[in-house]
This record gives sequence, C-alpha cells and structure tokens, in this order.
Amino acid sequence: MTDTLVEVQDIKVHFPIKRGVVLDRTVGYVYAVDGVDLAIRRGETYGLVGESGCGKSTLGRAMLKLTEPTAGRVVFDGIDLSAMKGEPLRTMRRRMQMVFQDPMSSLDPRQSVESILVEGMRAHGLDTDRQATAKRLRSLLSSVGLPSTSLRRYPHEFSGGQRQRIGIARALTVEPELIVADEPVSALDVSVQAQVINLLEDLQQEFGLTYLVIAHDLAVVRHISDRVGVMYLGGLVEEAPSDLLYAEPLHPYTRALFSAVPVPDPIVEDRRERILLAGDLPSPARPPAGCRFHTRCPWRQRQRCDTERPALREIAPGHRVACHYAEDIRAGKIRPHAVEPELVEQDVTGGIGPDDPLAGPASVTEALGP
Ligand SMILES: Nc1ncnc2c1ncn2[C@@H]1O[C@H](COP(=O)(O)OP(=O)(O)O)[C@@H](O)[C@H]1O
Ligand code: SF4
Ligand SMILES: [Mg+2]
Repeated sequence: MTDTLVEVQDIKVHFPIKRGVVLDRTVGYVYAVDGVDLAIRRGETYGLVGESGCGKSTLGRAMLKLTEPTAGRVVFDGIDLSAMKGEPLRTMRRRMQMVFQDPMSSLDPRQSVESILVEGMRAHGLDTDRQATAKRLRSLLSSVGLPSTSLRRYPHEFSGGQRQRIGIARALTVEPELIVADEPVSALDVSVQAQVINLLEDLQQEFGLTYLVIAHDLAVVRHISDRVGVMYLGGLVEEAPSDLLYAEPLHPYTRALFSAVPVPDPIVEDRRERILLAGDLPSPARPPAGCRFHTRCPWRQRQRCDTERPALREIAPGHRVACHYAEDIRAGKIRPHAVEPELVEQDVTGGIGPDDPLAGPASVTEALGP
C-alpha cells in the first residue's frame, strides 16, 4: 500500500470547438487542462486554487473520470483507470465522490432527503436491509449535523448550509475514500462557510477521508488544506505545503494572486506589496506560447519566458514551481517591473526591442553584473 491515494499523470482535457451545422467541423480546442501531474496522499486535503476558467473543475472531474481525459493517466489506489470502462469503472466510482458548489441545483427538488440518500447506496448494492439502511442514514445525518426528521423533508425546506450538509451526506452514503469538493462553500453566506469547512474537517477525521478541495477563494483553501496547488490556464504553476506556500509564494502568478487578498493586520496590510496583473486572462483556446503567464508576468525576462514552457520543478523540498526564474525571484536577484498588457492574439514569439516597456534587465546575468 503506497502513500498516494490518487494520482494524475500528464493529464490533458481538450474540448473541441465545433463549427458548422452540416459538417460539424472541429475548428479548434479549449485547452482546459493541459498537462498536469498531481498526486494526493491518503488522508490528505489538497487545495486547488486559481482564477475562474483556469481548469480546476475540469481537472477534478477528470480525476474521477466524470470527464474523459484527452491524454494522460489517472491512477487510483494503484489501479490505472485510464482504460477502464463500464462495470469495473462504475464499481471504482463508489470509492470517489463529488460534492458540488450549488447544493440546490445538485439535489433533485422532487426527491425527499431519504430517497436522495438511498439512491447512491442502491446503485452500489449497499441498500440490502431496510433496517440497516435506516440506521445508517440516521447516523450519517447526525454526522453532518442534521436531525433524523430531515429524511422525510425536501431540499427546498432547508437553508443553503443545510442543503450542502445533505450534499455531503449523499457523497458519504457509499463510503468513499476520496471526495472532490468543487467550490463547496462558494454559494454560501460567509457566516455559514466556516461551519461547513469545519464539518468537512470533522468528517475527514471520522471517516478517514482524502479531499481535493477546489476553490477560487484562497482563504477557504488555506484553512483546510495540507498542500495547495495553484492553476493557471490549464497548468499547475506552483504546489507546496499550505503554510509554506502562503508564507513564501514563489511563482509570479501566485504572488500576484496572494497580493490581492487583504491581510487583517493593518501594519502588514500597509507595507505589503500589491501586484496588479496587466491584461485579461488569455483564452484557454489560444494559450500563449512559452510560459503561459508571460503575457501578464511582472518578472518576465527576455530569454525563455515567451518561447519555452517551464516545467513544474522542485525548488525546495515539497515545493514545486513552474517558472524558469524561480530561484532568482526568490533570491531577489530579479525584481518585478511594469508590464504592458500584451495582445495574446499577436505573434507572442516576436522579439522584445530596446524600447520595450519591460524595465527589467535583459537577463539574469546582466542583473548580477559580469
Ligand atoms: N464541457 C465543456 N465543453 C467545452 N468547454 C468547457 C467545458 N467545460 C469547461 N470548459 C471550458 O474549459 C475551461 C476551464 O473550465 P473549468 O474547468 O470549469 O474552470 P474553473 O473550474 O477553474 O472555473 C473554461 O474555458 C471553460 O469554458
Ligand atoms: S517563466 Fe518567465 S514569464 Fe513565466 S512566470 Fe517565470 S518569469 Fe514569469
Ligand atoms: Mg469550477
């Protein structure tokens, strides 16, 4: 038995863009997930963050094989799911469940809570004895903090937070090992968010669960995660233990992302560096060449950034960064400069002239002197 529960290797999900009614031609692809390597350990909570549209949900769904990957492998508990289909895959699915953002739209309003909960058990042959099932449902409801009288009620009779508790209970009915929670508290009031996050933590202890928690809200992920991965335009740009990442983000994108989050301490808040990103998030249908972040990166250098896609490499133990200049940025050898937004559609491999708005040195060696 290895330490890793689930792993994706060089996983890609490209959605075809179709045109034309008759011929249904494929005119391009949305590179929603484009080469991600990620492993989640047993009992761990892995937080996945990034701007909306960067591919978090697609990656989560591909990990559960709810979306068929275009390329790459998914390995769950040592079993390669890549070629698995039909009944064997269905059986494996019991072990990995999903919790969705909007509990109202993911719960059938016409079904009672009892029938919502029994459904999954039945599908996996776990509802064999009425008494045992009834007992199990009552105990599950108590675990998620709902009274057993909830069984006869309908989703609309509950508050948003309670509905999310039902959604979590539904995932738990089939005794999964992995739960992918996609923006589990984003639709909830701030006051309720913490309760649901705490519940997820308690349930992890109680049932020995492994989590992938997806959120665009950095605060949510920080609190709950052991490790955090940061996504940008279909790729993982940084990954580290949560404390380490928040203490010292190394990738320019992570730095910019974190710098936008207010800090409660007013002194720290006044002093801290704020990095404003130039330009919009490029379309995942036309990702920039080289480093995908180079069109917005305040640390961008003349060499390599716009031609060579950086690999996710280990900079310090457990800290992986996809940036050619991570070490120099960390050491303060290169400084951020103003970046003019670059039109993504233009020839991004074009040279950078002497009048370029990049105020930074042409190369690291230049910055260091001869
Ligand atoms: N089924 C689909 N067909 C076509 N494009 C999709 C589909 N699902 C997601 N996308 C696109 O893939 C990109 C990533 O989406 P998504 O994984 O939902 O991002 P996130 O969860 O980070 O907001 C987006 O550009 C989105 O429009
Ligand atoms: S590789 Fe270059 S463009 Fe990409 S994040 Fe690093 S410095 Fe910025
Ligand atoms: Mg999403």
